[in-house]
Amino acid sequence: AEFHALVPAAGSGSRMGSELPKQYLPLAGHPLIYHALATLCACPQLTTVFVVLSPQDEWFKGYDWSCLGDKLQLLYCGGATRAESVLNGLLMSELEPDDWVLVHDAARPCLTQAHLEKLITELRDDPVGGILAAPVADTLKRAGESNRIARTEDRNGLWGAQTPQMFRAGLLAQALNSAIEVTDEASAIEALGLSPKLVASDSTNFKVTYPQDLRLAELLLNG
Ligand code: C5P
Repeated sequence: AEFHALVPAAGSGSRMGSELPKQYLPLAGHPLIYHALATLCACPQLTTVFVVLSPQDEWFKGYDWSCLGDKLQLLYCGGATRAESVLNGLLMSELEPDDWVLVHDAARPCLTQAHLEKLITELRDDPVGGILAAPVADTLKRAGESNRIARTEDRNGLWGAQTPQMFRAGLLAQALNSAIEVTDEASAIEALGLSPKLVASDSTNFKVTYPQDLRLAELLLNG
């Protein structure tokens, strides 16, 4: 079985509050999405890096991607939700059902070869697959009325899900096809009654969501 990456990049990034979609905001001399794509393209285990774009995307082709080599494959089949974009991409990619696919957020630019190496090594013989994730560091509060604390949640055993999320292409397509509202791939697999593995990552693989996150990413990328 081969290993491939699939990067959903059809979102609008509404929480960023900018006209230009989040994946194209300037970051360390490139559009944000460049950094994850460069790391994925440089990973020797990965055969293809599929990028799922909105059918209306008018930005991607405006950049020069030639320095990333020939692993990139564009799929203009983004949907209304992340799950829909990933499912459409999987169907269009025509991967073999037992190929592994690593689904990675365009908005996690600080992914490293070490993260990828660890994920692939820990999961390549796994019957289900799994995800990069980090144990929750903050104490967790449940908000009640007017943002008063209703209670403190037990953070013991709680992890924050990251990406890549690595599953067999056939299983993932089947899972996403029957999952209605999921915010990551693992949730769709869980809905089939399976238990994906948590592969320990760290906070540097965070998702750029708010404007201030760009500054932090810039510092890490330039470090
Ligand atoms: O908005 P959020 O940061 O959670 O999006 C996570 C990833 O999913 C991003 O890479 C975004 O471009 C992608 N996405 C997508 N299609 C959508 C919504 C989000 O490909 N309809």
